[in-house]
Amino acid sequence: MSQLPDPAAHRKPDHPIHPLFIQRWSPRAMSGEAISEADLMSLFEAARWAPSTYNEQEWRFFYARRGTPHFDAFMDLLLPANRVWCAGAGVLVVVASQTVFTRNGNPNPVHTFDTGAAFENLALQGASMGLVVHGMAGFDWAKAPKTLRLPANHAVQAMIAIGRPGDPNTLPPELRERETPTGRKPVREFVFEGGYPA
Ligand SMILES: Cc1cc2nc3c(=O)[nH]c(=O)nc-3n(C[C@H](O)[C@H](O)[C@H](O)COP(=O)(O)O)c2cc1C
Repeated sequence: MSQLPDPAAHRKPDHPIHPLFIQRWSPRAMSGEAISEADLMSLFEAARWAPSTYNEQEWRFFYARRGTPHFDAFMDLLLPANRVWCAGAGVLVVVASQTVFTRNGNPNPVHTFDTGAAFENLALQGASMGLVVHGMAGFDWAKAPKTLRLPANHAVQAMIAIGRPGDPNTLPPELRERETPTGRKPVREFVFEGGYPA
């Protein structure tokens, strides 16, 4: 059973928002249970409905389920610091994007932006289902395209660990201490009317 903290006890928004935004966080403790095909497809379905330039839908998700050779190959991509806690994941995902428009082959300047939006849809859906969805940049960026057999007009964006919440006591001490929902800067530190002050 999960003993993860409740984000609502640690996070207080300064302005009214939907509770799901607070509920989503990035735990590392996962139980090692499988994620059903149905649950996995619900996560990708949420990603599917993200907005994108010209409705290009240029995000690409490559997944590996626990207990398959793909999972071992995706684990191999991770840096050791992430591999430790990803041992409890049910699914590992590599997120990539097509960098050019399908209709004319021109560079798409917002493929990263659109793909980030799709990731956040997936993460929020996961939070609503009580799943752990944890983004990762700590992996072998040079090796990932080879593992996935990506063509040149694709770019790797991130990896994701997905799992059922686990017991934080199974984490190494330094990670166990960090297994608490984080806070945020005040809105006025990153929002500006008209530009930076003159
Ligand atoms: C693109 C991306 C890359 C990340 N890379 C890692 C990572 O390699 N290892 C890790 O433990 N956490 C990683 N994180 C998790 C962040 O540290 C976390 O999202 C951030 O501290 C905010 O906390 P929260 O997601 O719990 O709200 C990553 C998150 C994102 C979105």
